[in-house]
Amino acid sequence: MSSQSHNIGTRLKRVDARDKIIGVTRFLTDLEVENMLHAAPIYSPVANGRLLSIDGSPAEGDPDFVALFTAQDIPGENQVGVIIEDQPLLADEVVRYIGDSVGLLVAKTPESAQRLARLVVVNIETMEAIFSIDDSRDASSGFLHETNLACQHQVKRGNPEAGFKASDQIIEASFETPFQEHYYLEPQGCIAQSTPTGGIYIIGSIQCPFYVQKAVSKALAIPFAKIKVEQAPIGGAFGGKEDVPSEICARAALAAQILQKPVKIIYGRTDDAQLTSKRHPFQMHYKVGVTNEGKLLAADIKLEENAGAYATLSSVVSYRSAMQAMGPYVIPDISVESKSYYTNLPPTGAFRGFGSPQAAFGHERIMDIIASKLKLDPVELRLRNILKPDTKTLTGQLLISSVGAEETLRSATQAANWSSQDANSDSRWKTGYGVSLIHYGNCLGAAGWFMDGSGVKIKIHRDASISVAFGLVEMGQGALTVVTQMTAEALGVEPSRIMVMPTDTDQVPDSGPAVASRNVIMTGNAIRDAARKLLPILKEAAAELMQCDLNEIKLEKGLVYSTRNNESISFEELTNYLYLSNRPMDALGWWHVPALKYDAVTGTGEAYFTYSYATHVAKVKVDTLTGLVKVEKIWASHDVGRAINPAGLEAQIEGGTAQGIGWALTEHFKTDLGKVLSDNLTTYLLPTALDVGDIESIFIEDPEPEGPWGAKGVGEPAIIPTAGAIANAVSNAIGRPINSIPILPEDVLEMMNG
Ligand code: MOS
Repeated sequence: MSSQSHNIGTRLKRVDARDKIIGVTRFLTDLEVENMLHAAPIYSPVANGRLLSIDGSPAEGDPDFVALFTAQDIPGENQVGVIIEDQPLLADEVVRYIGDSVGLLVAKTPESAQRLARLVVVNIETMEAIFSIDDSRDASSGFLHETNLACQHQVKRGNPEAGFKASDQIIEASFETPFQEHYYLEPQGCIAQSTPTGGIYIIGSIQCPFYVQKAVSKALAIPFAKIKVEQAPIGGAFGGKEDVPSEICARAALAAQILQKPVKIIYGRTDDAQLTSKRHPFQMHYKVGVTNEGKLLAADIKLEENAGAYATLSSVVSYRSAMQAMGPYVIPDISVESKSYYTNLPPTGAFRGFGSPQAAFGHERIMDIIASKLKLDPVELRLRNILKPDTKTLTGQLLISSVGAEETLRSATQAANWSSQDANSDSRWKTGYGVSLIHYGNCLGAAGWFMDGSGVKIKIHRDASISVAFGLVEMGQGALTVVTQMTAEALGVEPSRIMVMPTDTDQVPDSGPAVASRNVIMTGNAIRDAARKLLPILKEAAAELMQCDLNEIKLEKGLVYSTRNNESISFEELTNYLYLSNRPMDALGWWHVPALKYDAVTGTGEAYFTYSYATHVAKVKVDTLTGLVKVEKIWASHDVGRAINPAGLEAQIEGGTAQGIGWALTEHFKTDLGKVLSDNLTTYLLPTALDVGDIESIFIEDPEPEGPWGAKGVGEPAIIPTAGAIANAVSNAIGRPINSIPILPEDVLEMMNG
């Protein structure tokens, strides 16, 4: 770690902000390629059935019609499942949800593609569909796949039975959390082109370019080396563009390869809502044994998830929700089972937190229920059980450093004046406070350890500009800005000469998915690795130029100093000399998460190499006349290890908290027999600036030794505690337990009156 940071901890303006604001940045919808055709999906209108035939003849006569592709046209494998191979690229026998694609219609314009796709007749023998977790679990026939259990993970540690026996009280409750739609502003899409040398080039609204590369290779049976995937500037993702682009891009690539013309797909909002993945609804049952003093002794936790028609990222969701099921508390005896069940609904998959917000709702609600049973302050109950250095997580992982849980709890409650809350007025509006505390395993964890490495390529040009290619992506979270700052810091140059390139599979090794809040840690460490290779070369050249020893050279704030002569030269002079003296001017950096000792059978041990911690305190007002809940303020305290860019960090925390407020209060995702009813902004209410109240961000910087400059991830932690804090606050306000979300006015009214 450098003694003095010039770039780390500074509020560098977002490097991509200006071009996005003035309209210079071109998104996928703005991109045109010569001779480009347009494609639209043809999908099942029923939730479950046997596919009998696809009749394209009503569309074929149209002058704009170009082609219709089905499963029979796929030269490679008809399989696009990212972890479990359960999902055909184009359904050919069975359709499992409304939106299951059976074909792709290619036409001359986007409008005609949409219009003609609707003319295609899909003949399906309808079968009985399953929509609920209960029906899926209890089914004795009519399985969606070989079984209805898509995947499961568990934690079995200690002896829960003995723990319950030793408990003074055993407290049980059930909770439910709903679907959540990502509602990224830019719908899914891509352009696929065949290259002059028989390969495929894809540019798209993509979160994980290396997943797309693999999917295209599989579908077209061509090697990875012939497939270049580039990320276009992207209008949000949140996990929704983790694996879904694989199917969209592979279909576009199929059409482009056969037609030898560029093919563009952009989903309309309605199709995007019906066809693509969502957050898993959870049903949860918590049984927790405690002493009268409020010590947690044992827990038996059952989590069940609605996986929809295909598993997609369900196993990551069940893994993570199991590993974090009881939150950042010491609990010696525990049993957790987390199971995902297939249903005939749109697939559920990756969404900011991978099951963490759901599990956090469960553990933070049960903590408040326990506190009220024991007549303890909810904060006091949490403090009596909180994880600290030298304690073990629920999976038995010994924590050594960077355990900021307690500091987040103390700072958030202090900022909110927890101990002297506003009186709960008896007039029309009732005030309530709620607290919620979480931990979040950084990066992919033991289950994904094999692929938890990422790279960068730093190239110094002769004119002293520097390009950085990284394997993860900018998706609105500010990656370009922090990558700029970290590179500037690592090399001792000004941020202004750094240009972070669009992510491109040709530029860097497979860096795994841009998920799990891993960008700062993975890319930051990879940057430091590349800098370790470049700095000796830079210093050797500078020493030659300045006639001193390599150890006497310092690169700082964009200048190159010799401590021997007390002289400096510009970085331009140095890079020109590097070029003239024939030295290599680029380097590849790589970092892999440290080894983890984990037992996959019992689910115990080191589930993740480090954890972020956060506390949200919510202050709400409930209108006793209408049942409406208004969020007045959220105090959001996050242990981030080290703040790379405080401005970006605040934006992440505010964005995540707002998304959590929406999930808790306004976003009511509705389906009817598998049809998505809330498929636009008039039926799916995103919170506006007027709904989110005041959000105060607090940073706790307890450095993580393995993190770059001490940093940990924050992208997902920002949303995880919010809904629990709000539900606890509303429960506090109305004196009745809120055990499910969204918290709708009509339900609040009924609870208050019933
Ligand atoms: Mo996110 S659920 O890590 O894409």
